[in-house]
Amino acid sequence: MPKLNENYLNLVPSYLFADIRHRVDDFCAREPEKAKRLIRLGIGDVTLPIPEIVINGLHAGVDAMSRPETFRGYGPEQGYPETRKAIADYYARNGVDIDPDTIFLSDGAKCDTGNITDIFGNGNVILCPDPVYPVYVDTNIMCGRKVIYMDGTAENGFLPMPDPNVHADLIYICSPNNPTGACYNREQLKVWVDYAIANEAVILFDSAYEAFISEPELPRSIFEIEGAKKCAIEFCSLSKTAGFTGTRCAYAVVPKELVFTASNGTEMSLHAMWTRRQSTKFNGASYIVQKGAEVVFSEEGMAACQENLNYYKRNAKVIADTMKDLSIRFYGGINSPYIWFECPKGMESWEFFDYMLNEIQVVGTPGTGFGRNGKYFFRLTSFGNYEKTLEAMERFRTMLK
Ligand SMILES: Cc1ncc(COP(=O)(O)O)c(C=O)c1O
Repeated sequence: MPKLNENYLNLVPSYLFADIRHRVDDFCAREPEKAKRLIRLGIGDVTLPIPEIVINGLHAGVDAMSRPETFRGYGPEQGYPETRKAIADYYARNGVDIDPDTIFLSDGAKCDTGNITDIFGNGNVILCPDPVYPVYVDTNIMCGRKVIYMDGTAENGFLPMPDPNVHADLIYICSPNNPTGACYNREQLKVWVDYAIANEAVILFDSAYEAFISEPELPRSIFEIEGAKKCAIEFCSLSKTAGFTGTRCAYAVVPKELVFTASNGTEMSLHAMWTRRQSTKFNGASYIVQKGAEVVFSEEGMAACQENLNYYKRNAKVIADTMKDLSIRFYGGINSPYIWFECPKGMESWEFFDYMLNEIQVVGTPGTGFGRNGKYFFRLTSFGNYEKTLEAMERFRTMLK
């Protein structure tokens, strides 16, 4: 009998989306007439198609596969040079100098943020915000590591800051945050970078929602902060930026400055380790997808993607304005597709889920699914249809009058 990875026994079962489905299915069976009015604002997936200019890039990749002179087989594990250059140029337009050789293409930020655990050992002090995208915690539990939570609360605007009296080795930061939509400013990220350098820690910075940032003074990359190349790895995804949730493409930036001393005194470079890890366990993102990604990061491609994001941002504004008018405390919605609000009437998040479903047939996501600090909070998303979002918010106002 094989010995199993019994760390999996320590995972808290994730019933969030299954629970939501069951409750909605039960409601539909019980109230078939009302079920016809159902509006889903819990959706964490994009709904608009990929912009035409990007589709043309994907087509060019497909066509190249049809001719002997342009056919591609296995590609470089790290990604094609032209795609890495397009990403570096995108950073440069935002005033950030990134060496294309430090960019690693992949098929998703979920995989990258999970796989990065491979290059770190056991016994690290790992800091993770609560609430947050659950992948960071679960991937550490799977390899037997313990995570210490930093509390995101209404008091700190769901943007926890370091405690100078607590040492950490690895720090997960997601900004703009899923689920709270909260986004660190430059000064706050500088505090994190200084803390990481002082502790010889590494920040694992997830910027999957950077393209939603509307306020120009907010940092879109950790590398906008002085010193970050000495202490941070950045993960970003085309999923929400370019509608690639089904197409799959993401990248990680691992600076060459990240060099630490092993217990036997050997200097180890995280860039070299990640190169080795990826070339051993990953055979590169598809050529076709990378041809599309190359267009995404061009000026015209990004402008087209931003048109789609503007559609979602208009939805986010409808939701945020409703919260403002009803004096409900909320976060996000300006630099993020997510609106995170305090459940009205002191309700807990599942109680509020049922209340909304029964009263106005609008489905959202209970905050408790993202950590214990989400118990009294709720997430709505802007990825739905505009008219339906308007209708849902009209009903929301009526419900709380
Ligand atoms: C914070 C965050 N990071 C990463 C991802 C996953 O990205 P990908 O689709 O590239 O795997 C998500 C998806 O919801 C996310 O919310």
